[in-house]
Amino acid sequence: MTYLVTGGFGCIGSYVIRDLLEAGEQVVVYDLTYDLTIPEMVLNEDQINQITFVGGDIVDLPNILQTIKKNDIDRIIHLASWQVPACQANPPLALKIVSEGTVNIFEAARVFGIERTVWASTVGVFGSPDDYNHQQVKNDSPHFPKFIYGACKSLNERYAEHYFDEYGLDTIGLRFTAVYGVGRTRGATSFTTKMIEAVALGKTYGVPFGDDAVDWQYVEDVSRSIVMAAICPTTKTRIFNVRGGVRGVKEGFDYLKAIDPDANISLEPGLFGISWDYDASAIAEEIGFVQDYTMEKGIDKTLDRFRQLQKKGVIS
Ligand SMILES: NC(=O)c1ccc[n+]([C@@H]2O[C@H](COP(=O)([O-])OP(=O)(O)OC[C@H]3O[C@@H](n4cnc5c(N)ncnc54)[C@H](O)[C@@H]3O)[C@@H](O)[C@H]2O)c1
Repeated sequence: MTYLVTGGFGCIGSYVIRDLLEAGEQVVVYDLTYDLTIPEMVLNEDQINQITFVGGDIVDLPNILQTIKKNDIDRIIHLASWQVPACQANPPLALKIVSEGTVNIFEAARVFGIERTVWASTVGVFGSPDDYNHQQVKNDSPHFPKFIYGACKSLNERYAEHYFDEYGLDTIGLRFTAVYGVGRTRGATSFTTKMIEAVALGKTYGVPFGDDAVDWQYVEDVSRSIVMAAICPTTKTRIFNVRGGVRGVKEGFDYLKAIDPDANISLEPGLFGISWDYDASAIAEEIGFVQDYTMEKGIDKTLDRFRQLQKKGVIS
């Protein structure tokens, strides 16, 4: 099978490429530039050499159509997006990249009869704990996005429903939480990775949101959920909550301090402000995905990987 992975040179995309190549699949990456900064943290040289790269913008529908046709694409994994900070800074362009870009992918998938498109939504479509009376957020709970990013992804979810209802387009959207792991360089929740990186590389870091808990979602679980969603039978549900494990930011901080008491990290007060407690039973029932990584296991793996990359001179 040949997979088109949009935004493939980002954090999640690099792990998806690795998992697809290990499964013997062909990978075509569609991304803005041939920037291997993140892929080189995740993939080996042989894996990088197996990737077909197409440079392009997700807002450029003719280029996407041509890429699908030229490379005989069977399935699409759509990850290209801006995240919270970039969207807040430029709302008009956020709408184009996050929403129009996703509708372009749905349209291209419809035109070519692509058998499965998996795309990344976000729990940022949901609101604060107050919006849900501090109860767990269900798969079909109402949306109260706090940021432009979540509002755009919420619109995408509506489009996914429309393309399924009107054209039978088989898509699966996955709402990720606070993804961490080597390669997570962008986005409002990248602070968990940054604190692990600071400990690994002996850097100073002030960890924000110290009074909050977050859903610690390790990137290899995220990648596995995407690959499972790409090959499972058609689901009844179009978009799924996906979770890791809700733990205090301070718990992660304390765990790292226990590993390295001399670590130069400090905990800053504050709340991130959105709900982090999501019901992920639908993806378990319909796709069979259940997360594997506890916070401790994910931190250990991330710490080790940062240290290995430093030793090899890939990062400093
Ligand atoms: N990381 C998280 O915690 C998280 C949580 C929920 C949802 N998501 C979603 O998962 C997906 C992947 O996230 P990530 O953490 O890997 O992000 P990332 O920022 O590391 O990667 C995004 C990739 O998209 C590319 N891209 C950006 N704008 C583009 C454009 N206009 N045209 C083509 N490519 C473009 C970038 O070059 C980059 O390679 C995104 O859709 C994101 O919204 C991520």
